Amino acid sequence: MRGRCPLLPFVLLAATAACRENSLPVADSRNRTLEAGRRIFEQKCVSCHNRNGDGKTITAGRFPYANLIDGKWHGDGSPASIERQVRRGHDPMPKFEGKLTDEEIREVVAYVVELSRRAEKRNREETKK
Ligand code: HEC
Repeated sequence: MRGRCPLLPFVLLAATAACRENSLPVADSRNRTLEAGRRIFEQKCVSCHNRNGDGKTITAGRFPYANLIDGKWHGDGSPASIERQVRRGHDPMPKFEGKLTDEEIREVVAYVVELSRRAEKRNREETKK
């Protein structure tokens, strides 16, 4: 324990508290978006894309790009290209333009991005082991 700054825990605590206060509203609205996106995904997308997004379903299993969590995209994987696919569809995926509001599309796209980001993180951690 020699050389350890006795104040460090308090400094860290204060810093975390300060950060939390600043970032709460942003985190809150982001969580609301993701939560709304998850609900839409579960209603409209899981029949083909599966709950976890791997696309291993009877309907979509033979389409490699139906897997939303393998880091491989038909487009470039950006939110804009994901949004394009959701709006326009791509046989056999139906288009959701006009069926979901702009806000709902934004929410479900944010959720898909988050699903794939989490999967990527998991994969990185697994390869590190
Ligand atoms: C009837 C089945 C079906 C439904 C419902 C469906 N999809 Fe798809 N989706 C697919 C298939 C099949 C593909 C792969 C087709 C292809 O090659 O582009 C795909 C591809 C995608 C892609 C990949 C785009 C890329 O660049 O690789 C995204 C993103 C996507 N779907 C999102 C969604 C979202 C979000 C929903 C719900 C709002 C949804 N899908 C509903 C079948 C479906």
